Amino acid sequence: MSTRHFLSLLDFTSDELRALIAQAIDVKQKLKQGISHTPLTGKLLAMIFEKSSTRTRVSFEAGMYQLGGQAMFLSPRDSHLGRGEPIEDSARVISSMVDGILIRTFGHDRIETLAQNSRVPVINGLSDLLHPCQLLADMQTWFEQRGDIAGATVAWIGDGNNMCHSYINAALSFDFNLRIACPTGHEPDSAMLESGGDRISLHHSAIEAAMNADLVVTDVWASMGQEEEQQQRIETFASYQVNRQVMAQAHKDALFMHCLPAHRGEEVTSEVLESAQSVIWEEAENRLHAQKALLETLLRPSV
Ligand code: CP
Ligand code: NVA
Repeated sequence: MSTRHFLSLLDFTSDELRALIAQAIDVKQKLKQGISHTPLTGKLLAMIFEKSSTRTRVSFEAGMYQLGGQAMFLSPRDSHLGRGEPIEDSARVISSMVDGILIRTFGHDRIETLAQNSRVPVINGLSDLLHPCQLLADMQTWFEQRGDIAGATVAWIGDGNNMCHSYINAALSFDFNLRIACPTGHEPDSAMLESGGDRISLHHSAIEAAMNADLVVTDVWASMGQEEEQQQRIETFASYQVNRQVMAQAHKDALFMHCLPAHRGEEVTSEVLESAQSVIWEEAENRLHAQKALLETLLRPSV
């Protein structure tokens, strides 16, 4: 059987994703009840971080520990990854010694090349194109608060970035409607947009996209690797802030999500971030539970 990877939400079927969310809710309950659950005893996850991280690193490291295994942190600064050793060669070497590889990097092709040359499962911990692990946590958070998301309306306000692309994939996998509001020139990838078909609509007004939404989501205006554009983007995206007026267009019981880190006063006001509608802390915590379910699915010894 070929090695199973998680580079995109679309690597799993809708049924598998729903099963993963149910499993995540179950492992969360086990943890809260103090029930030990260590199916990955003796397993090792290599974690390659070519970009910064707080949540992804802590959640995968804590998750492996709680599942009975261990995680190994690798950065380009103190490995040969930063000195030009081809990713193909790194993949063959690292995967000969560990049970799974998590990678956060720039170009998505780097993750694909890693996976093609790895004999163990590879997990996308964020690329310039996608951030699928975050969507597992976001979907878990929605399912816990509101039940199934099929048929709901989600408003994505801001940059057509890696998170937006993963929301497009999630709209397909979980069957919800997605309204995307972003400035001209910052739309998501057109092929991905088309892949979403009728479920996805593109807007150039935050107010319009948020109308009657059940969930409002945003992210930073300048992603990692775009630091030099930060000032320009603050001007370009000024009318795409999620604030009280934007939230007022959505349903009264609409939720607000943000993958974090957030720039208060830019893409979202402090007021919205800290409001009763905001589930950002649950969302961040669910990174741990959702990824434990993912790790168990991918790394569990076959019986
Ligand atoms: N949301 C997220 O992936 O956070 P980190 O960049 O801190 O890992
Ligand atoms: N779009 C952001 C997400 C951070 C978790 C970035 O890529 O920097």
